[in-house]
Amino acid sequence: MQPFRKERLFFTLSHMEKVKILDLEFSSFLTKETLESRIAELAEAIDSDYQGSTVVFVAVLNGSFIFTSELVKRCRVDCEVNFIRVKSYENTTSTGKVTEIMGLESDLRGKHIIVLEDIVDTGLTLDTLLRKFAEEKPASIQIASLLMKPDKLQFPGLPLKYIGFEIPNDFVVGYGLDYNGLGRNLPCIYTLIMEKEG
Ligand code: IMP
Ligand code: MG
Repeated sequence: MQPFRKERLFFTLSHMEKVKILDLEFSSFLTKETLESRIAELAEAIDSDYQGSTVVFVAVLNGSFIFTSELVKRCRVDCEVNFIRVKSYENTTSTGKVTEIMGLESDLRGKHIIVLEDIVDTGLTLDTLLRKFAEEKPASIQIASLLMKPDKLQFPGLPLKYIGFEIPNDFVVGYGLDYNGLGRNLPCIYTLIMEKEG
């Protein structure tokens, strides 16, 4: 491995305006700096709301892995970090059913839970998970999601307390979010460039 040199910083800080993933083209939408400063605000709100308690973060994999790491490292409150893995999307649309691929190990009884998601679309994934978690009788459950598409939401009762950005209905990738498994490693969020008709 090469030693780190200052000139390389340019490539770390800059980002591409457009990316192509498989058959689709995406353009830059939310920069790393914008995302990180908003995540810092969410961490501050969580710290102030949970002062004196222990929080159990439950990150919903795969999409939330970058958001989870950026959020929890900014939180000062005592916390545990756990993971559950589910899948509901194929191509650029929801399949309408949530499949659990890897279950949660820990006991949630009497704990203060914050579920961490990359994006709330219809809300089906979180509604399914929250019903399951509620059976374990936690002390409280809230949701922190980096993104949300308010016009797609079909479960208005969800406790969406910590939302990074409300975005339009367009499909997005990067910062953990994927298109058919690709694009999760992009350092910022990109939005699908719609083909013009005619
Ligand atoms: P929901 O169950 O309809 O709320 O969908 C939530 C899940 O679908 C998220 O956790 C994502 O994994 C995935 N998803 C929803 N919208 C997008 C998107 O625009 N890009 C990538 N994944 C998405
Ligand atoms: Mg997700």
